[in-house]
Amino acid sequence: MFPSHRPRRLRRTPALRRLVSETTVAPRHLVLPMFVKEGAADPIPITSMPGVVQHTRDTLRKAAVVAVEAGVGGLMLFGVPARRDATGSGALDENGILNVALRELRAELGDSTVLMADLCLDEFTDHGHCGVLDAEGRVDNDATLRSYGEMAVVQAESGAHLVGPSGMMDGQVGVIREALDRAGHSDTGILAYSAKYASAFYGPFREAVESQLTGDRRTYQQDPANFRESMREVELDLSEGADAVMVKPALPYLDVLRAVADRSDVPVFAYQVSGEYAMIEAAVANSWLDRERTILEALTSIRRAGANSVLTYWAVEAARWLAGGAHA
Ligand code: PBG
Repeated sequence: MFPSHRPRRLRRTPALRRLVSETTVAPRHLVLPMFVKEGAADPIPITSMPGVVQHTRDTLRKAAVVAVEAGVGGLMLFGVPARRDATGSGALDENGILNVALRELRAELGDSTVLMADLCLDEFTDHGHCGVLDAEGRVDNDATLRSYGEMAVVQAESGAHLVGPSGMMDGQVGVIREALDRAGHSDTGILAYSAKYASAFYGPFREAVESQLTGDRRTYQQDPANFRESMREVELDLSEGADAVMVKPALPYLDVLRAVADRSDVPVFAYQVSGEYAMIEAAVANSWLDRERTILEALTSIRRAGANSVLTYWAVEAARWLAGGAHA
């Protein structure tokens, strides 16, 4: 009478599979990252991210409304400025592209969605690093913190519900919390990119924001070989007042995500980054992968590993597939 144990029994019909399915992905779990380019007359396609564009202020607003109507959980905004300088001053300027776009989105959308802003200098510096440089050309942690504090206040005043420090400077969450509180923005939350690796999977993002970086970010972002320091980074960010933490990239770091999810008492986000997007789109373009199934499997896996929310460039499309569907 062998085999006496038959796990296949519960896989026999779609109804049985639906009954015992553990992990859900719903539109509200997905956050759409969006790019807005200063002075653009038309949306500009990002070659290495087919289907993703640098928006004009106008198309950004329209695309944001569409995303909210599709039921996504929130929007994460990145600015691409027309001019850059050594200190990234465009990030601190209330008339800088990111802050202008935030104001316009908040005016359009109010509190109907969650507006998040990437809080980092790399899009605004002419050298492309996430902070300001010292005389020797090294990223100056504490000088950068002063800029981050100011940037957070401007983003809060421009309408961000959550600011997302992504520069991996030591002490960034604490400095930002203090700056926000001092300026009367104690209600503005911090979504900390806590465990952020120096990853090759950010490749296409460099095109998306026209990064001028030469070299790499290994003196501030984490070594892909390391697990323990992610635990430490999360612990520090929580002690400094992070309202939510993030692991980035997502799929290559599911072990880290699971561990963070097990330890964290705050919501955990994961960022399915530009390279994760580009890989699947490239394989799909060659008919090597089934697009919808692959994307939904990746998102399900990220949720299964413990993410409450997933930042994904497929947020709107996936939300439509998921609306009322089997994964919800
Ligand atoms: C930094 C930032 C980066 C990404 C999000 N925020 C680039 C980097 O750290 O090098 C990458 C996102 C992606 O690849 O999709 N502002």
